[in-house]
Amino acid sequence: MKNLVKSYINSDIAPHTVNRRFSVAPMIDWTDKHCRYFHRLLTSQALLYTEMVTTGAVEHGDRDKILGYNQPEHPIALQLGGSDPKALAAASVIAEQLGYDEINLNVGCPSDRVQSGSFGACLMAEPQLVAECVQAMEAAVSVPITVKCRIGIDDQDSEADLTNFVQHMVDAQLQSITIHARKAWLNGLSPKQNRDVPPLDYDRVYRIKQKFPALEVIINGGIKTLDQALTHLQHVDGAMLGRAAYQTPWILSAVDEIIFDAPKNTENRHDIAHKMLDYIDNYLTADITGRARAHHITRHMIFLFQGIEGARKYRQILSVEANKLGAGSEVLAKALTYVNP
Ligand SMILES: Cc1cc2nc3c(=O)[nH]c(=O)nc-3n(C[C@H](O)[C@H](O)[C@H](O)COP(=O)(O)O)c2cc1C
Repeated sequence: MKNLVKSYINSDIAPHTVNRRFSVAPMIDWTDKHCRYFHRLLTSQALLYTEMVTTGAVEHGDRDKILGYNQPEHPIALQLGGSDPKALAAASVIAEQLGYDEINLNVGCPSDRVQSGSFGACLMAEPQLVAECVQAMEAAVSVPITVKCRIGIDDQDSEADLTNFVQHMVDAQLQSITIHARKAWLNGLSPKQNRDVPPLDYDRVYRIKQKFPALEVIINGGIKTLDQALTHLQHVDGAMLGRAAYQTPWILSAVDEIIFDAPKNTENRHDIAHKMLDYIDNYLTADITGRARAHHITRHMIFLFQGIEGARKYRQILSVEANKLGAGSEVLAKALTYVNP
């Protein structure tokens, strides 16, 4: 750790205040920078997470592509996947220099690819190693380090196992933990099944908060509405929404007022979509690779008009036309003519 002193290189980029009362979950292939830009137009307050990025990708990959983001996305947390304390510390330094407001360690992802790299949910069986990872990351940067985990894995799924895991995190000075309130079966269930099949146990997460009152506890899993989020907030410090935020994005437009007691977002769906027209134009104009497509952005907006008359036609136009070579913001403008705000 000698060469990993706290990083003040970009101290002009002061970290933004992070309030985890409501967040949008890290989701591979979904919460890319275009998605987050769109979500930020809907809520100024929610904390937004990146997709999981492995330490190897941070070290060897195209950093602009993997870690690049738009400034308005703040406050924004980078989620890292890895299990080598040194590599995680080094990746954290890079993330802090780039201006990320929080760095989250993935201890919940059950996919095969992740297991073979020995990180993600399988790390729940190695609390001491996770504690070492957290300590190395905390020693390397000033921004908050957080962990996202499950309530258990395989046959290590007792309440005592979870309590033991969380105790290790607390001993490592972790300030905030996000718990997906279902266990993961590492053998036999696909990642998708692991998000639906094991039953939710919210009470177990509530009890973790009772056992560790000084630890910030964020609950995740199966939360579909802001009313449900408010109910959880009577027991824990924050609610994280994944699929519901992505598949019914309009609920995000009420988050500032209902969850944060902040000024209401008064824009309608068309106002938001019109702001995305400029974003699409800028993205396509700036592209020098020839690979940029309007679809990279509009695919995240497919569900914006869910439940509104004309939504089917809107979706159809975006799905079919936005992926064509040369398609630009006019495709979104056309789709918008079929839906009312
Ligand atoms: C498409 C997709 C990709 C996901 N990728 C990640 C990921 O990169 N890191 C992670 O910690 N969880 C990931 N998850 C899990 C979510 O963060 C969340 O824990 C899970 O979906 C349960 O929350 P929900 O019921 O609100 O969706 C992913 C989920 C989905 C649907």
